Amino acid sequence: MKIFVKVPATSANVGAGFDSLGLAVSMYNTVTFEESDRLEISSCDGTIVPTGQSNLVYRSVKAVFDQLDEKLPGLKITQTNAIPMARGLGSSSACIVAGILGANAMLGNRLTHRQMLTMATAIEGHPDNVAPAMLGGFVTSAYDEGQVYSVKKNISDDLAFAAFIPNFKLLTEKARAALPAQVSHKDAVYNLSRAALATAAFCDGEYELLRVATKDKLHQQYRLPLIPGGEEIFELAHELGAYAVYISGAGPTIMAVVHRDNEDFFAQAEEAMTQDDKMIAFSLRRLLADNTGAVVE
Ligand code: HSE
Repeated sequence: MKIFVKVPATSANVGAGFDSLGLAVSMYNTVTFEESDRLEISSCDGTIVPTGQSNLVYRSVKAVFDQLDEKLPGLKITQTNAIPMARGLGSSSACIVAGILGANAMLGNRLTHRQMLTMATAIEGHPDNVAPAMLGGFVTSAYDEGQVYSVKKNISDDLAFAAFIPNFKLLTEKARAALPAQVSHKDAVYNLSRAALATAAFCDGEYELLRVATKDKLHQQYRLPLIPGGEEIFELAHELGAYAVYISGAGPTIMAVVHRDNEDFFAQAEEAMTQDDKMIAFSLRRLLADNTGAVVE
């Protein structure tokens, strides 16, 4: 038995869709599973990963084995982690999805996508990264009484994604701790109308609406102070004609949505970033949408 799983990076929230919206992009973690009578975990690319039972891929495999009442005597797990950790690009979701899909394949594909998505969400805590990591595309999700409900739509080839990735980490727990326990009715309405508009705008190619549709009052204003240089990246990306700019997931990556033909955006952004000390911590990656989602071979 040798099972290979490839999982895309994901960018959650997409502005107003806190814990609901997410999209998959062209950056990947891979995991290979092989039979073994003990637990052997290694990384092919020098990324430091836990090599014991706390490893997230292993924990996710184990969750599936437990759910299906199967014994897991040991396993050889080999990881490559191109998705940087704690940067708001869904690295933990990629590990969870790899573990769940890999285990399901090992056990003869007995779980449905919905069951796997629900398990992944239970481990991650919210569906907005795990759903696009599994399904690809732009995914709208709701978590209701322990079940995940998701709709996936393909993202048009017209779009590219400019990921401004800082050289520092921001743990999701810290970024969630910065949020208020309560928000006003007015702010809730502000967000729900924009999240709905963003979904419709992405699906129908109404990209000019995305600037308004990705504005948010539930999390970005509280998180931006945790991201030095983030405000300047927002300003720069807007000045250079991005359709939308938002904090990717819990941050600290800032994501800009641009037209695929807008090559100038990347050249000009690179230049501006080298000329302003405030943005020095960020590097820019040009990504495309991934409409395939996780692949198991
Ligand atoms: N929706 C989550 C958040 C994504 O913003 O905290 C990060 O895991």
